[in-house]
This record gives sequence, C-alpha cells and structure tokens, in this order.
Amino acid sequence: MQTILLNTKQRPSEVLCGEGAFAAAREYLAGKQAFVVTDKNVYGLYADAIADAFPAAQVCVVPAGERHKNRTTLFRILDQMFAAGLHRGSFVVALGGGVVGDMAGLAAALYMRGTRLVQVPTTLLAQVDSSVGGKTAVDHRGVKNAVGTFYQPERVFADPLFLHTLPAREVKCGLGEIVKTGILDAAIGDKLGAGSRLRDVAFLQELAADCIRFKARVVEADETETQGLRKCLNLGHTTGHALELLYGRRSHGEYVLIGLWLESLIAEREGVCSPAWAEEVRRRVAAAEPRIPAFRGARRGLEFALHDKKNAGGGVSLVLPKARGEYALFTLSPQKYGDYLALLEEGADARRGYARAERGSAPARAGEEQ
Ligand SMILES: NC(=O)c1ccc[n+]([C@@H]2O[C@H](COP(=O)([O-])OP(=O)(O)OC[C@H]3O[C@@H](n4cnc5c(N)ncnc54)[C@H](O)[C@@H]3O)[C@@H](O)[C@H]2O)c1
Ligand SMILES: [Zn+2]
Repeated sequence: MQTILLNTKQRPSEVLCGEGAFAAAREYLAGKQAFVVTDKNVYGLYADAIADAFPAAQVCVVPAGERHKNRTTLFRILDQMFAAGLHRGSFVVALGGGVVGDMAGLAAALYMRGTRLVQVPTTLLAQVDSSVGGKTAVDHRGVKNAVGTFYQPERVFADPLFLHTLPAREVKCGLGEIVKTGILDAAIGDKLGAGSRLRDVAFLQELAADCIRFKARVVEADETETQGLRKCLNLGHTTGHALELLYGRRSHGEYVLIGLWLESLIAEREGVCSPAWAEEVRRRVAAAEPRIPAFRGARRGLEFALHDKKNAGGGVSLVLPKARGEYALFTLSPQKYGDYLALLEEGADARRGYARAERGSAPARAGEEQ
C-alpha cells in the first residue's frame, strides 16, 4: 500500500492506495460516528463488507448513475444526515464511484458548514481521479458540475478489492483519465506503453498511484483552479463534457477518450502539436477505445461547450496536447469548434485522424448516437 500526501490550504489529505486500504479505513473510523453514502449497485455488492467494516454506521443508499447527481439526491442525503443527528465532528464516508463521491462530498461541505469527510472510491475513475483533489458538485440545469465547491477529504482509501466487480465498460471509463494523465505526464505515458496491460488489475493499481501522485502535485500548486495549472486536468474534457451532456449514454471516461481523439485532431490542424504527437495521442486512445462511434448531430454539443465553466469571452476554451508531457490552452471561435464537432458525425477508426464526415455532414438528428 502506498501513502500519498496532499497538502492544501484547506487541510492536509492523505491518500492510501493499494491492497489493505479498506482495512485501514475500518481502523481509521473505529469508534467514530460515521455516515456512509453509497449507491444501489455498490450496496448490492458490498452491503456485508460495509456492515462488517463500519458496524455502527448509518448507511444512506442513493440511486446509481449520473442522472441522479442532482439537487434532489443531494437534499435526500442532507435530510438523512439531519435524521441521523450528525454533528460537525461526524464522518461522511463517500463509498462509491465519482457520482457518490462528488455528491457526498458536497453534502459533507454543506452540512453545518462542514463535517469531516473520507472517500472510499470503488471505481477505477474514482480511484485515479475524482476522489482526490476536493472537487465536489452536482449537475444543474443541463450544466455538469454546475453547483459545487472545493472540499478536501481528510483521507482517501483506494483499495483494488473493489475493482474486481467493475464491469468492463467502467474499467474503460477509468482508462479515459489514465490515458489523459499519460499525455500530461511523460513518465506515466511511457509506463502505459502500447496499452497491452490495461486489463490487468495490479498494473492498473500501480498506474492509479502514479496518477494520484501527479494529480496531488497539480492540486497542491493550484488548489482552486485559479493559477491556470489545474486546468490541464481538463484535457479532452471540453468535448467530453459536451458529448456527455448531449448524449449521456456512455460513461464519463468514454466521452473523455472520444474528446481526446477529437482534440488531438484540433491540436494538429491548429498547429498546436506536431502530426506525430497527435498520432501518438490517437494511438493511446485507440488502445482503450478502438472505434470512435458516429454521433449524429454532434455539432449540437456546441451549446453545451459554450456553457463550460472554463470559457472566458465568447470562444470555446480547450486544453490541447502540445508535445510529450506538455499542454496548451487554446480558444476557438464557436463556429470553428462546431465545425470540428461535426467531424464526429461519422464514426472513425480511432487511430485515423480523419472521419469521412469531413467531406459532408451526415443528416443531423441531435441526441442520436450510433
Ligand atoms: N471530483 C472530481 O475531481 C471528478 C473528476 C472526474 C470525474 N468526476 C465525476 O465522477 C463521475 C463519474 O464517476 P464514475 O465513473 O465512478 O461513475 P459512477 O459513480 O456513476 O459509477 C459507475 C457505475 O459503476 C457502479 N459501481 C461503482 N463501484 C462499483 C464496483 N466496485 N463494482 C461494480 N460496480 C460499481 C456504479 O453504481 C455506477 O453504476 C462523474 O459525475 C464526473 O463528473 C469528478
Ligand atoms: Zn474527468
């Protein structure tokens, strides 16, 4: 098990990553008032383990999925926290994927202006990314993570034991963030190599620790995304979020992979990176997501991209791959970004830099993905 320290102004956070982390959570919370937030799927699989580890805890089970990451579920959690008689010294334990982590984290920040918070991430995405760094939120009025705050957990316990029950699609979801981190950090990128070990839990756990360490350094330097540095974590996410909000059928990380694919194309054509580096980015995307599906009416994603929190002025802000371990902030006019989105209207082999749609758009019917 590895311990990674994250020193932020709000509070020091300690991330325990590897086999034995869940047992460490049990030890850490023994004798303390704990309120476990989890979702239906995780509870279905781990009810006994939760009861065994936290026998005195109240358990709040919320419906699973991004569409429930909203104010209704948030206030259900808060209501149950009141009913359980929590005080500011009580622990909220966010035990689940990124959806549970973001919502339970926000509830912990809001309740009595802040209770103590522990994250027990159970998806690969939550382990490599969302449980670390203190971003909490719910979606609102069609805008992802529109209502939220920064609230650092005291401890994060990332145990690979949870990864064995993850469906393949959710593993791919975590790979989106791992591939993204490998583009930002040369050493992680080299370790990923040709992507042939991406189904091996032990290898993924090793990468998870590397990704957490990378994110911890970025968050320490720019805790609340005001210095610009933390923006790098949004590589692939302008397009990823726009597609996620427009279609919503795939997981966050799958849309990030598709976002990375399109944004490598943008970087190449706008002269931000060399064709060789863009090709390398696409090769890494292809290791996790070999085929870019056809997104009918993808241009409509522009509406969502224009609402993105990263935008300043009238353009669409993007974080683009620049070179090995380097990124660039770039702004495109809405018209131009819309034209790039239209490239997604026909599918492509992820290794290729061109979709056939470039020669003429498919008839656009927004909201349909094939
Ligand atoms: N706070 C941040 O910094 C940050 C960073 C990245 C992503 N996010 C957010 O994270 C969310 C996505 O997280 P996610 O991909 O973990 O989604 P998720 O929480 O919806 O989990 C995916 C699915 O896997 C199930 N699941 C969870 N653990 C399981 C296990 N061990 N075995 C079997 N099934 C399991 C869940 O019930 C769900 O159906 C998005 O809302 C995104 O905005 C936040
Ligand atoms: Zn993400």
